[in-house]
Amino acid sequence: METSQNNISNELLNLIDESEEFLKSQQIIYGEDIFLDFDAALLSLPPQERKRKVLADLFYRVRKCQNCALAAKRKHMVFGSGNAETEIMVIGEAPGFYEDQKGLPFVGEAGKLLDKILAAIDLSRDNLFITNVLKCRPPENRDPDINEKSACFPILVEQIKIIKPKFILILGRIAAHSLLNMDGSLTALRNKVYDIYDAKALVTYHPAALLRDASKKRETWQDVQLFQKLIKEA
Ligand code: URA
Repeated sequence: METSQNNISNELLNLIDESEEFLKSQQIIYGEDIFLDFDAALLSLPPQERKRKVLADLFYRVRKCQNCALAAKRKHMVFGSGNAETEIMVIGEAPGFYEDQKGLPFVGEAGKLLDKILAAIDLSRDNLFITNVLKCRPPENRDPDINEKSACFPILVEQIKIIKPKFILILGRIAAHSLLNMDGSLTALRNKVYDIYDAKALVTYHPAALLRDASKKRETWQDVQLFQKLIKEA
């Protein structure tokens, strides 16, 4: 009797913790107004359109985000792009100059290389969703700071929860640290399968790192082949 009461109390405490965390993340994204926005019209949409609509709603809510200092310098907030119905997400670090200009992820040189890497494993932007940990460009492409990451991360978590990918390819050390909540070099983090947000995740080199050091291409090729194998075996 006492044990089952303890179990119920623990479950209640967990529920309260989870609700508190959820409300805090909503507050970070949306500000003081908490949106309890159950939209009954969503139920009449086919499931694939539902995800697109919910993702578009999130975009409209956060596109003018002022939660960190990067907002003042941006031309565009780079939300991400691709197929909302996908099982695959590719997540990088932060927009660079060209991404900020166009409002789209991975459109510069690193993006062109990323497209080639994806094509080599039969993927294209039509069958995945690409985004970044930070949605606004840090000046001179410096590493994101702790305030920027904690202001922006809840948006990424919302995107993952809407899309519900089964596979996540993480590009580079900075994105890996945020998503895996782990430190360590890229060499230590790659070549392992992680379970995050109900998805299988792999880490590989950021394409910008490959542009600086082509010797990393061999390991990247191994990583993406493993990623392809995970997808095929699922
Ligand atoms: N580097 C990233 O991490 N993301 C982009 O969108 C572009 C370059």
